Amino acid sequence: MKFWNPEKIPVILYEVFTKVEKLRELKGLKDLKVRAEGQIIILLMLFMIFELSGAALDLPARTLTVVTDQIGSGSVYAQADNLKAEERYNSVELEIFSWWTAPGEREGLDYLIYSFQEEYPEIEVVNAAVEGGAGVNAKDVLKIRLLRNIPPDTFQVHAGAELKDTFIAGDYLRPITELWQEQGWQEVFPEELQEMVRERGEYYSLPVTVHRSNRLWYNKEMLAEYGLKPPQSPEELTAVVKILAEEGETPLALSSRNLWPITHLFETLLAAEASPDQYRALVRGERSWKSPEVERTLEIMQKLLAHVNEDHASLTWHEASEMVLQQEAVMTIMGTWTRGYFAARSAVQNEDYGSVVLAGNNPSFLLVVDTFAMPSATENQDFTRKWLEFISRREIQEKFTEVLGASPPRSDISHEDLSSGVREDYLDLLDQEILPSIVHGAAAREVFVNALNEELNVFLYENNISGTMEVLNQLAEIYLKPLRGRR
Ligand code: GAL
Repeated sequence: MKFWNPEKIPVILYEVFTKVEKLRELKGLKDLKVRAEGQIIILLMLFMIFELSGAALDLPARTLTVVTDQIGSGSVYAQADNLKAEERYNSVELEIFSWWTAPGEREGLDYLIYSFQEEYPEIEVVNAAVEGGAGVNAKDVLKIRLLRNIPPDTFQVHAGAELKDTFIAGDYLRPITELWQEQGWQEVFPEELQEMVRERGEYYSLPVTVHRSNRLWYNKEMLAEYGLKPPQSPEELTAVVKILAEEGETPLALSSRNLWPITHLFETLLAAEASPDQYRALVRGERSWKSPEVERTLEIMQKLLAHVNEDHASLTWHEASEMVLQQEAVMTIMGTWTRGYFAARSAVQNEDYGSVVLAGNNPSFLLVVDTFAMPSATENQDFTRKWLEFISRREIQEKFTEVLGASPPRSDISHEDLSSGVREDYLDLLDQEILPSIVHGAAAREVFVNALNEELNVFLYENNISGTMEVLNQLAEIYLKPLRGRR
C-alpha cells in the first residue's frame, strides 16, 4: 500500500472538500458559516486521517467518483469529475464495462481479459461488469456514468438501433473509423454487420459476437422418455407442451424477473408467425401491430404461458435454463448464450441437452450482435484502441465466441474449426433470412423495447389479447417511426 503519492493530492483535496460541503447540505447546516481557515483545517485533518489509514491514496479515482455520485450533483462535482478524468488519463487502467456475469458469459469475458493481460501486462484491466442478462441493469448504470462524464474506457453495446439511437444519437461515442481502416476490418466483417455499427460513414464499434435468439433448448432424456420430437415451429411447440403438461411435467421454463425474457419469447414466436417481410415492416413501424401475425403470436403465448413454471417471476434466464438441466422443466426458449451457459455447467450437447431452431416454415435467423465501443469522453483512448484491436483478432474471436456459445462475427473463420452447435448457426447465417432481434437492441429504439417489455409482462398476468394489441400498436406508432434528421 502506497502512503505518499503527491500527484493525487489535488484529487483527494477536492473529494474531501466536496464531501464536507455535501455533509453540511445533508445535515441542514447550509447556513452554517465555516470560515475559509476553518475549512482548510478540516480538510487537512481529514486528509491526514485518510493518509494514515493508507486507504485514500490507493483508492482508484472511480471509487471516489462513485461515492461522490451517491451524495449528489452540482457544478463542484463536475469539476471534481474533470480532475478525476485527468487523473485517469495518467493511470494504467483500462476499465471494461459489460453485463457478462452469468456462467458462460463470465468465462468468455475472463478469457478475453486474461489473454489481453498476457499481451499487455503493464495495463491494469478493471472488469466493471454489472450483473443482469441482456444488460438490464448495466445499461442504466452506463447511462448515468455517461451523463456524468465518468465513462468506462470501453463498453458492451448491441449493434443496430441500440447503438445508433441511444449512443450515437446522444453523442456519447467517439468514431473508430480510423481503426477500422487501419486494421482492414471492412474486409473481414460482413457488410450487414458493418452497417449495424456505422452511421453517416463513420464506424462506432467493433462486433465481437453473433448470437441467435430463436432457439429452443430441451432436456434430451425427458423428451425421449415421452417419445417426443423436439418442436421446431410454434404449432409443434403448443402440441408438445400440451402433452407434457398432461404428463404432469413443466413443459417450458420461463423467467420474467428481468422482464425481457417475455419479449424474447414473443419475438421468437413472432418471427416464426410473420413472413420475413412482415416482421421487417413491423419493426420499422410500417405495418400495423394489430395485424393477424401479432394476434396469432399472442394466442400462442397465451397457450404456452398456461404451462410454465410458477416461480418465473423470481428467475433469471440462466436459472430457467438450469431447470432444463435439472429436469425440473423440459424445454426453454432462449438465445445461443444458453449454449455457453450449458458448457460452463459441463453439460454436453446431444447428450444432456439438445437444441433446435424454433421458426416457421421459413427458417429465419434472429440476429443479436454484441459490440464494444469507445465513449467520446474517454481519455484513455490508446488503451481502448489496444483492447479493440486485440478482441478483433481471428484467433481470439474464434475461441471467445465458442465459450459464449455464439458465432464469430468475422467471416474469415472456417466453419470446420467451430463446434457442431455453433457451426450450425454459423452456416445458417449464410442461407437463411436474417431478422434483427427487437429485445436485444438490433431492430428498435430502446424506448420501444422497454415499453414492449412492460406491456408484454402485463399480458403475462392479464392475458388480454385485443387490449395488448391495441397498446402495442400505439407504442409502434409513437416509437417506431424513423427519427427525424437521421439516416
Ligand atoms: C444479450 C447479449 C448476449 C448475452 C445475453 C444474456 O443481450 O447480446 O451476449 O449477454 O444478453 O445476458
